[in-house]
Amino acid sequence: MQFPAEIIAQCQSALETHQLEGFLTGAGNEDADIMFIAEAPGEKEAETGEPFCGRSGKVLDSYLTTLGLARKDVYITSAVRSRPFKWGERRPNGTPVMKKINRKPTEKEIFAHAPLLDYQIAAIRPRIIVSLGGVALKRLLGNSAKMSMMHGTIHHSPVQNRVKNNYQWSTETYDVCALYHPAAVFYNPSLREVIDEDLHALKTITEL
Ligand code: URA
Repeated sequence: MQFPAEIIAQCQSALETHQLEGFLTGAGNEDADIMFIAEAPGEKEAETGEPFCGRSGKVLDSYLTTLGLARKDVYITSAVRSRPFKWGERRPNGTPVMKKINRKPTEKEIFAHAPLLDYQIAAIRPRIIVSLGGVALKRLLGNSAKMSMMHGTIHHSPVQNRVKNNYQWSTETYDVCALYHPAAVFYNPSLREVIDEDLHALKTITEL
């Protein structure tokens, strides 16, 4: 999706000193009924510009298969469009090397990139928004939204939009469904069962 150049310039200039790399616009079907919103790109995504082309992409593809969908049927984007990283020591062959390590985006980074997501939601006008992980859920429904309470259920609600220096609720309402982030199964494989139940609940709703 093409963004007005001033939105990109404004987002990037607010974060010039931050440890961020790459820039993804999002990918998929701009007429989609369903929009997936995740956290921020990882290393592979920042390199290629393609959302979920790394390890967690295989898990996301399994979500789509369970839903009876393919990438061409949905739009995939994220709260932050650049990879947040920090420098950290790793020992791949026993020898210490400094590497860029993924980190969670900060509130400031999420807020700085908010106009991009606002623009995209308004352009696509999805019937259903699927948030992947807690960062995306809170970006949309505010900091009181909790994954543990909301996963696998639909919340008919406005979403947060950035207006000047604050978030405000959108006038449009959406069906928002929270799912665990695909990468969550790497840290907690037992979540896969819960995720499958959530996907089956979501499938019933998407078919209505
Ligand atoms: N997490 C995201 O939010 N986006 C990706 O593209 C990959 C992982």
